Amino acid sequence: MSVSLPHVVPSSSIGGPVTIYEVGPRDGLQNEQSVVPTEVKAELVRRLVAAGLTTIETTSFVSPRWVPQLADAGELLESLGEAGRGARRPVLVPNERGLDRALEHGVGAVAIFGSATETFAQRNLGRSVAESVEMFAPVVKRARDEDLWVRAYVSMAFGDPWEGPVPIPQVADVCERLMALGADQLSLGDTIGTGTPGHVEALLAELDARGIGVERIGVHFHDTYGQALSNTMAALRAGVRVVDASTGGLGGCPYAKSATGNLATEDLVWALHGLGIETGVDLDALVVTSVWMAEQLGRPAPSRVVKALAGADS
Ligand code: HMG
Ligand code: MG
Repeated sequence: MSVSLPHVVPSSSIGGPVTIYEVGPRDGLQNEQSVVPTEVKAELVRRLVAAGLTTIETTSFVSPRWVPQLADAGELLESLGEAGRGARRPVLVPNERGLDRALEHGVGAVAIFGSATETFAQRNLGRSVAESVEMFAPVVKRARDEDLWVRAYVSMAFGDPWEGPVPIPQVADVCERLMALGADQLSLGDTIGTGTPGHVEALLAELDARGIGVERIGVHFHDTYGQALSNTMAALRAGVRVVDASTGGLGGCPYAKSATGNLATEDLVWALHGLGIETGVDLDALVVTSVWMAEQLGRPAPSRVVKALAGADS
């Protein structure tokens, strides 16, 4: 496979450095119909590390009844050993049960995941927004006491398949409540991919006005409507420096109607390299990884860059 590179032309309005927060092993694989074998998951994480990704969300310590695809979270971390530990290997943890399990396996970072809407809170967590904040409070407190790094996701931050448009103040209220628990970073989840660039700017401005600045924010765009990369550029222009992406463009949420894959890591890397922003990622190795993963899953990777660079092989 011969990899061509983008022509590098820096932008006066977008600068680096940018941290790529890789969610493929977690967001990507939680949504697969079949359960991917633990050894394949471990191999995926190892390949991502070898391709230069530094921050990788590996799995979730959620109820195995709710997400059987990630029931092997503990086994996966044992298989990864040191490669699965530390502040740059977050795992999703909804409750104290999940935190206990995560701590048993030596995690260094956790992510709680709230919802901007009542419907999705019920569907994804089996409780209201207020009850979920109550569930997360002791998780964050204990995680901080254990010196873990903590991220807080807010899903349906740009739209909800049941409730429709979600008012920006409603989203910002939930963001404030989760950050008040003591999280280090907020990730704005466009779970169903309906956001557009002006919306991104407006939500970031509202959060800034409430004291949550871009230095504490990551963006998490699903690409359902093809907006993920343009939304990312809007966020970068506003000063965000952490972008979630999934190798090959895998992803989705089993509890969110119409959620499809995340922004593909390859598409993000291509854009950043074109802007002259170093990522440390070897795009060639990453494409090979996504092609390999697509073979494991038995279907092509959605990423446009993977398709372009690997052609029919993907
Ligand atoms: P619950 O309130 O305990 O509910 O779960 P339950 O009574 O249905 O419990 C189910 C069973 O799981 C019980 O066991 C519990 O003990 C057990 P049983 O009595 O049947 O033997 N259990 C657990 N087991 C292991 N680890 C745990 C755990 N917790 C309970 N941590 C809960 C509430 C929140 C746990 C459940 O609703 C759940 O697991 N939800 C997770 C759903 C999920 O993972 N969704 C995908 C991630 S979010 C996402 O993808 C969005 C994001 O990408 C951002 C974006 O795109 O917007 C982050
Ligand atoms: Mg997601």
